[in-house]
Amino acid sequence: MATAAGSSDAAVKGLILSGGTGTRLRPITHTSAKQLVPVANKPVLFYGIEAMAAAGIEEIGIIIAPETGAEIRAAAGDGAQFGLRIEYIEQEAPLGLAHAVLTAEPYLGDSPFVMYLGDNLLQGGIVDLVDAFREHRPDALILLTPVSDPQNYGVAELRDGAVVRLTEKPPEPATDLALVGVYMFTSAIHDAARAISPSNRGELEITDAIQHVVDAGLRVEPHIVRGWWKDTGRLDDMLAANRLVLDTIEGRLEGELIDSLLDGRIVVETGAVLERSTVRGPAIIGAHAHVTDAYIGPYTAVGERCVVRKAEVEHSILLAGSSVSDLNGRMESSLLGRDASIGRSPRQPRAFRFMVGDNSEIWIL
Ligand code: TTP
Repeated sequence: MATAAGSSDAAVKGLILSGGTGTRLRPITHTSAKQLVPVANKPVLFYGIEAMAAAGIEEIGIIIAPETGAEIRAAAGDGAQFGLRIEYIEQEAPLGLAHAVLTAEPYLGDSPFVMYLGDNLLQGGIVDLVDAFREHRPDALILLTPVSDPQNYGVAELRDGAVVRLTEKPPEPATDLALVGVYMFTSAIHDAARAISPSNRGELEITDAIQHVVDAGLRVEPHIVRGWWKDTGRLDDMLAANRLVLDTIEGRLEGELIDSLLDGRIVVETGAVLERSTVRGPAIIGAHAHVTDAYIGPYTAVGERCVVRKAEVEHSILLAGSSVSDLNGRMESSLLGRDASIGRSPRQPRAFRFMVGDNSEIWIL
């Protein structure tokens, strides 16, 4: 059966958007891609790739920015580690989600595809979405979820089981159905993305492109998400995603415990050493981390090679190689960049002493 786009029988491809500037997650994004910030010690991006693999998608294109593309390539490689093939598509500037689609057009050709924002996490994966698409053959399928603050999202209006209107961040939303960062398109989206103009913020908006598909008389179906969805673009969202994923982990002990106590579901990776410490789960302690005379509280992800010594850390994400030592108070709700260190000055005078990168935030008791 052919649709208006005439292409639904082709194998479904994947498109993951991992360009962008990540301004809301500075300073981490000054030196690294936000899609590689770990959630429960695994880069956010990998959850999206794994969701694609689980849905039987064999070929995915990843949109990368010139600044962070090399790092993303190095992390995800050719896709063999996920059981699929990855190609990289450079977008010269972050000119919008619909611009990213157009940039990927030569790669996507006539194939239907799942588009997944590389900094998003979707608990239920995309198997249901791809199945619904194969069954109903709409021209586009968009994921929606009810939210309490729809004015901050793209919002959909439905009639007779189809999407009739999409509005980006409406001051007075007509519904509470927000667009989740996962979409399923046929090649009809390419013409739509070509037909629209940049928005007030200078971007080719995917909501405008989808509205164009609706206005052309094609069928855009809604798909309501079961389970949670998180956009990890800001620190609080990143911590929330870390919480949600840690809530699902199984405990596992591969490192070494010396006079230490594990309470709850905790992963201790190979080579990690916990000495005279208490860890209350859910938490994960990365490979070769050293936790000494310390307390690690719930919802903490300690990256590989981190050091926590004479300190208490809770509800935080520590990236690889970072360290926290000799703190009087408990550190919480924090994100430490790679190899960042927080400690006590050995020298006089007794004063705060900082070397802090651009856009950093430090909160003192
Ligand atoms: P956003 O989070 O909306 O944009 P951003 O990454 O520029 O972040 P900020 O608003 O903090 O500056 O983007 C969602 C995802 O899509 C994210 O993984 C980056 C990616 N993206 C692209 O690949 N190309 C683009 O042109 C845009 C706008 C985003």
